[in-house]
Amino acid sequence: MKNIKIAIGSDHGGYEYKESIIEYLKAHDVAYVDEGTYSKEACDYPVIARNVAEKIIFGEADRGILICGTGIGMSIAANKINGIRAAHCTDTFSARASRAHNNSNILCLGQRITGECIALEIVEEWLNTEFEAGRHKRRVDMLE
Ligand code: RB5
Repeated sequence: MKNIKIAIGSDHGGYEYKESIIEYLKAHDVAYVDEGTYSKEACDYPVIARNVAEKIIFGEADRGILICGTGIGMSIAANKINGIRAAHCTDTFSARASRAHNNSNILCLGQRITGECIALEIVEEWLNTEFEAGRHKRRVDMLE
Protein backbone atom coordinates (compact mmCIF):
# COMPACT_ATOMS: atom_id res chain seq x y z
CA MET A 1 0.00 0.00 0.00
CA LYS A 2 1.22 3.47 -0.81
CA ASN A 3 2.85 5.71 1.77
CA ILE A 4 0.09 8.32 1.97
CA LYS A 5 -1.96 10.00 4.67
CA ILE A 6 -5.73 9.94 4.35
CA ALA A 7 -8.18 12.38 5.93
CA ILE A 8 -11.47 10.54 6.45
CA GLY A 9 -14.89 11.79 7.49
CA SER A 10 -18.57 10.96 7.36
CA ASP A 11 -21.89 12.21 8.56
CA HIS A 12 -24.27 9.97 10.52
CA GLY A 13 -25.43 8.40 7.22
CA GLY A 14 -21.93 7.11 6.53
CA TYR A 15 -20.63 6.54 10.04
CA GLU A 16 -20.54 2.74 9.90
CA TYR A 17 -18.57 2.68 6.63
CA LYS A 18 -16.16 5.25 8.04
CA GLU A 19 -15.40 2.88 10.90
CA SER A 20 -15.00 -0.08 8.50
CA ILE A 21 -12.70 1.89 6.21
CA ILE A 22 -10.61 2.98 9.19
CA GLU A 23 -10.18 -0.70 10.10
CA TYR A 24 -9.06 -1.33 6.52
CA LEU A 25 -6.57 1.55 6.64
CA LYS A 26 -5.16 0.28 9.94
CA ALA A 27 -4.82 -3.25 8.57
CA HIS A 28 -2.88 -1.91 5.57
CA ASP A 29 -0.70 0.52 7.55
CA VAL A 30 -2.17 3.57 5.85
CA ALA A 31 -1.84 6.72 7.97
CA TYR A 32 -5.12 8.56 8.54
CA VAL A 33 -6.74 11.37 10.44
CA ASP A 34 -10.37 10.91 11.51
CA GLU A 35 -12.36 14.14 11.06
CA GLY A 36 -15.56 12.66 12.49
CA THR A 37 -18.38 12.27 12.94
CA TYR A 38 -17.83 10.14 16.01
CA SER A 39 -21.32 8.71 16.56
CA LYS A 40 -24.57 7.98 14.73
CA GLU A 41 -26.10 11.21 16.03
CA ALA A 42 -27.31 13.43 13.20
CA CYS A 43 -24.81 16.01 11.95
CA ASP A 44 -24.24 18.21 8.89
CA TYR A 45 -22.21 16.76 6.01
CA PRO A 46 -20.96 20.14 4.67
CA VAL A 47 -19.02 20.72 7.90
CA ILE A 48 -17.28 17.33 7.74
CA ALA A 49 -16.58 17.73 4.00
CA ARG A 50 -14.95 21.08 4.61
CA ASN A 51 -12.79 19.77 7.46
CA VAL A 52 -11.51 16.87 5.34
CA ALA A 53 -10.96 19.11 2.29
CA GLU A 54 -8.99 21.62 4.35
CA LYS A 55 -6.65 18.89 5.58
CA ILE A 56 -5.72 18.29 1.94
CA ILE A 57 -5.58 21.94 0.89
CA PHE A 58 -3.33 22.81 3.86
CA GLY A 59 -1.06 19.83 3.20
CA GLU A 60 -1.92 17.90 6.35
CA ALA A 61 -3.20 14.93 4.36
CA ASP A 62 -2.55 13.70 0.82
CA ARG A 63 -6.04 12.55 -0.05
CA GLY A 64 -9.46 12.16 1.58
CA ILE A 65 -12.40 9.80 1.87
CA LEU A 66 -15.91 11.10 2.62
CA ILE A 67 -19.00 8.99 3.25
CA CYS A 68 -22.61 10.04 3.63
CA GLY A 69 -25.90 8.29 2.90
CA THR A 70 -25.65 8.69 -0.86
CA GLY A 71 -22.16 10.13 -1.36
CA ILE A 72 -23.80 12.99 -3.22
CA GLY A 73 -23.96 15.64 -0.49
CA MET A 74 -20.34 15.02 0.41
CA SER A 75 -19.18 15.30 -3.21
CA ILE A 76 -21.16 18.50 -3.82
CA ALA A 77 -19.77 20.05 -0.65
CA ALA A 78 -16.16 18.97 -1.21
CA ASN A 79 -16.12 20.12 -4.84
CA LYS A 80 -17.05 23.67 -3.72
CA ILE A 81 -13.53 24.02 -2.36
CA ASN A 82 -10.77 25.16 -4.73
CA GLY A 83 -8.23 22.44 -5.38
CA ILE A 84 -10.56 19.60 -4.47
CA ARG A 85 -11.45 16.99 -7.07
CA ALA A 86 -13.96 14.78 -5.31
CA ALA A 87 -15.18 11.68 -7.13
CA HIS A 88 -18.42 10.01 -6.11
CA CYS A 89 -17.88 6.36 -7.02
CA THR A 90 -20.14 3.32 -6.94
CA ASP A 91 -17.82 0.95 -8.88
CA THR A 92 -14.13 0.12 -9.07
CA PHE A 93 -13.76 1.16 -12.72
CA SER A 94 -14.83 4.72 -11.90
CA ALA A 95 -12.61 4.77 -8.81
CA ARG A 96 -9.59 3.75 -10.89
CA ALA A 97 -10.41 6.22 -13.69
CA SER A 98 -11.00 9.04 -11.22
CA ARG A 99 -7.41 8.63 -10.06
CA ALA A 100 -5.73 7.81 -13.37
CA HIS A 101 -7.50 10.46 -15.45
CA ASN A 102 -8.90 13.07 -13.05
CA ASN A 103 -6.33 12.89 -10.23
CA SER A 104 -9.21 12.79 -7.75
CA ASN A 105 -8.04 13.76 -4.30
CA ILE A 106 -11.23 12.83 -2.44
CA LEU A 107 -13.26 9.63 -2.81
CA CYS A 108 -16.96 9.89 -1.89
CA LEU A 109 -19.07 6.85 -1.05
CA GLY A 110 -22.74 6.31 -0.21
CA GLN A 111 -23.42 3.93 2.65
CA ARG A 112 -27.08 3.60 1.63
CA ILE A 113 -26.16 2.93 -2.01
CA THR A 114 -23.10 0.71 -2.21
CA GLY A 115 -22.62 -2.62 -0.44
CA GLU A 116 -19.85 -2.69 2.14
CA CYS A 117 -17.60 -5.22 0.36
CA ILE A 118 -17.85 -3.27 -2.89
CA ALA A 119 -17.15 -0.03 -1.00
CA LEU A 120 -13.96 -1.52 0.45
CA GLU A 121 -12.88 -2.72 -3.00
CA ILE A 122 -13.50 0.78 -4.34
CA VAL A 123 -11.32 2.18 -1.54
CA GLU A 124 -8.54 -0.30 -2.35
CA GLU A 125 -8.64 0.46 -6.08
CA TRP A 126 -8.66 4.19 -5.44
CA LEU A 127 -5.79 4.06 -2.95
CA ASN A 128 -3.63 1.97 -5.27
CA THR A 129 -4.12 3.89 -8.52
CA GLU A 130 -1.74 6.66 -9.54
CA PHE A 131 -2.52 9.69 -11.70
CA GLU A 132 -1.36 8.95 -15.24
CA ALA A 133 -0.58 12.63 -15.95
CA GLY A 134 0.41 13.03 -19.64
CA ARG A 135 -2.57 14.24 -21.65
CA HIS A 136 -4.72 14.12 -18.52
CA LYS A 137 -2.57 16.67 -16.70
CA ARG A 138 -3.44 19.43 -19.18
CA ARG A 139 -7.14 18.78 -18.60
CA VAL A 140 -6.86 18.61 -14.84
CA ASP A 141 -4.81 21.85 -14.89
CA MET A 142 -7.70 23.48 -16.78
CA LEU A 143 -9.97 22.76 -13.79
CA GLU A 144 -7.88 25.07 -11.65
C1 RB5 B 1 -28.53 12.24 5.81
O1 RB5 B 1 -29.79 11.75 6.08
C2 RB5 B 1 -28.28 12.26 4.31
O2 RB5 B 1 -29.04 13.27 3.74
C3 RB5 B 1 -26.82 12.44 4.01
O3 RB5 B 1 -26.09 11.41 4.59
C4 RB5 B 1 -26.42 12.44 2.57
O4 RB5 B 1 -26.93 11.33 1.88
C5 RB5 B 1 -26.60 13.68 1.83
O5 RB5 B 1 -26.25 13.79 0.65
